[in-house]
Parts: sequence; structure tokens; C-alpha cells
Amino acid sequence: MRKPIIAGNWKMFKTAAEAASFAKEVSGKAEVEGVESVICAPFTALPALTEALQGTSIQVGAQNFHWEENGAFTGEISGAMLQELGVKYVIIGHSERRAYFAETDETVNKKTLAAFQYDLTPIVCVGEKLEEREAGQTKEVCKEQTVAALKGLSVEQAAQVVIAYEPIWAIGTGKSSTAEDANEVIAYIRELVAEAFDAQTAQSIRIQYGGSVKPNNVKEYMGQSDIDGALVGGASLQADSYIQLVEGAK
Ligand code: G3H
Repeated sequence: MRKPIIAGNWKMFKTAAEAASFAKEVSGKAEVEGVESVICAPFTALPALTEALQGTSIQVGAQNFHWEENGAFTGEISGAMLQELGVKYVIIGHSERRAYFAETDETVNKKTLAAFQYDLTPIVCVGEKLEEREAGQTKEVCKEQTVAALKGLSVEQAAQVVIAYEPIWAIGTGKSSTAEDANEVIAYIRELVAEAFDAQTAQSIRIQYGGSVKPNNVKEYMGQSDIDGALVGGASLQADSYIQLVEGAK
């Protein structure tokens, strides 16, 4: 039985003070038994957020990190630095990072492998662009990205990864994939995990849908056989809407 997981991805929104006040509003509310609730905040808001959420079941995630422990990498943040703050999740390979910050399948794989050294659960993003969708390449693209991301992981590690299937054309556009279409791609990603590892790992790994998920459509996605949660951008920024998303995942 896979535990549903709602992860808010705040992207480049919210100061530390705003994060702390959000945490107060959602404490005790975005906490639903049987649902994992994670907020992925900008680096600067992480200390305030982990502190404000102490004693709650809401977990904190980062949106990126560097795979090396330390070194001359100006502007980067390591897994050890995140671990020290009590961060438990990290988004890897979000399409915005792939598009604007030269993230590649290779760096995604390095980060996915490295996350386990720091007890960080990777939320690995995969998904196709609009032109790839229109050219009928959705599965091919997802296969390439998924297989590359999980390369070299042990079976135990692979089972702990969270994959977020995010069709790029559905991100922040208000155009969401239908729940059935998203489920079909997600079921396919699960098959890929079975091929790369084994059937049990495929049944354990959690795969989210992401792309214009809102309180009013989250239940449709959650009602599908293979969708285990959502990675949510815009709708995770307001406390009331985040609470409804977590409630909707039950
Ligand atoms: O990481 C989250 C996704 O990019 C989805 O963003 O919910 O604003 O469409 P969105």
C-alpha cells in the first residue's frame, strides 16, 4: 500500500518570514493521517520553515542541491547542508531547472544517487514538452529520463524514490493533463521501474502527477490506480488551498 504524498513546490516565492507565517497557518491542518505532506521551499526559507514545523508531521524539502559534499562550487548548496537543517526531501530535475539551469539526465542521476548519502528522499521530475507530446514521444521521453535518473540505485533505494510526472505544457498553464492520460503515463513509468528493478520495487515506488493541480481537481488524480499524489506549484502557495490539497489526497 503506497502512502499518498502531496508536495508543494514554492519555486522562487516566499521569504523566510512568509514561510514561517504559512507554517503556522497549516500546522495541525495540512496534517491528515495516511497522507504525507511536504513543502519544498527556497533555500533561504528552509531554516525558518523547519523550525516552525517542528512537532508537526509536515516535512520540509529543498528544490535542488549539489551532489558533492563541499568544494569550490560558487552559489551551490550541498546535501549535508540540507540535512543539518532537518530537510527530508529534495526535488531533482524539475523541468524549470532542466530548461533554464542546464540540468541534464546525467546531473539528475548524480543528485539522485547523492541524495541517499544525506537521508534526503529524492522527488525526481520527468515529463515531456508540448512538441514532444504532439509528436507522440511522451513515453519515449519519460523512459529516457526515468531510466537515466534511477541508474545505479540499489533496489532498496529505488523503492524510496518519489517520481513526479509533470508534462511541461501543463505546468503553470491551467491546462492539466486529464487524470486518465496522466495515469496511463504513470502506469508506464511504473512498468519501466519493474523492468529496471523488479515488480515489488515498481509496486512500492510512489509516482506523483504535477501540472496545474488544484483543490478542485486533486481528487480526480488521486482516484486513479497509479497516481500516488501531486507535486503542486501555484496552488501550494496559499495556506487554505494547500490544506485542501492535502485533505483531497486522502
Ligand atoms: O513543481 C510543480 C509543477 O511545476 C507544477 O506547477 O502546479 O503551478 O502547474 P503548477
